[in-house]
Amino acid sequence: MGTLQRVLRRVLPAQQSGGKGKPGGTGPRGVDYEGAWNQYARQWSQRFPGLRHLGDEWTGQEAGAAQTVEEYTRLIEEKYVTPYVTKDDTVLEIGVGGGRTAVLLRAHGKRLICADIAADMLAATRERLGDDGVDYVKIDGIRLAGIEPKSVDVAFCFDTMVHIEPRDIYNYLTRVPALMRGRRICLFHHSNMLSERGWNRFLGEWDKNLMGKRHGRSFSVMTDSIMERFLTHLGYEILVKDTESIPRDCVWVVRAPEVD
Ligand SMILES: C[S@@+](CC[C@H](N)C(=O)[O-])C[C@H]1O[C@@H](n2cnc3c(N)ncnc32)[C@H](O)[C@@H]1O
Repeated sequence: MGTLQRVLRRVLPAQQSGGKGKPGGTGPRGVDYEGAWNQYARQWSQRFPGLRHLGDEWTGQEAGAAQTVEEYTRLIEEKYVTPYVTKDDTVLEIGVGGGRTAVLLRAHGKRLICADIAADMLAATRERLGDDGVDYVKIDGIRLAGIEPKSVDVAFCFDTMVHIEPRDIYNYLTRVPALMRGRRICLFHHSNMLSERGWNRFLGEWDKNLMGKRHGRSFSVMTDSIMERFLTHLGYEILVKDTESIPRDCVWVVRAPEVD
């Protein structure tokens, strides 16, 4: 039995209990990613009346990557989409927002699976991309249910893990390999709170996230060394580690371990 299988055996039964919070010290509900992002989607048009698509406001400026959404999407396409997604690929994106990155993935691949915890975000992406070659899957934040095992050539998670707690990231990393086939390429982008920009972001919101109360869209207290430990422990092969293109964060291109 490989490392990944051993880890999955240890971790999955506990996670599948659904985290009802019975043992002492845990509350009835965890981080409300779903509510926070549904609310964002509902309020988006009032907050950003001049913008065309949800996600045009994510310019990459705070992360030090770009000044405009056009520049940021060009960077995403040139660095992370064109080199890894080919025309026959089925691509999974976890956390689609309003489809900013999904549009690129759809254009380069054959089929796109959009998975998101927030139904309103999936609706926004659907309005932008339509249904031709695109599937939409509402996920629960624990399991990646509804995505067929061994159906994905490339998995993408961009500008989403930057808001997800390290243990939730680790959980997704345990579940992705079973979905992968072929080249099993995964691209994961997460925050690095020990970079200068990451540290400034941490200082800007630490006092709003105390006693385990944590807003669903807060910045994740995550680092590149934590991610490296997660990936190597689970048997991912590291192809690229990039802490320069988006200086606040870290992007990994990895190959998922093969699951029998
Ligand atoms: C900032 S948007 C990123 C959108 C897109 N990837 C892009 O590059 O434009 C974050 C998205 O992740 C989703 N999300 C947040 N927490 C999640 C979780 N735990 N599991 C799956 N999706 C999540 C949100 O609903 C939202 O659609």
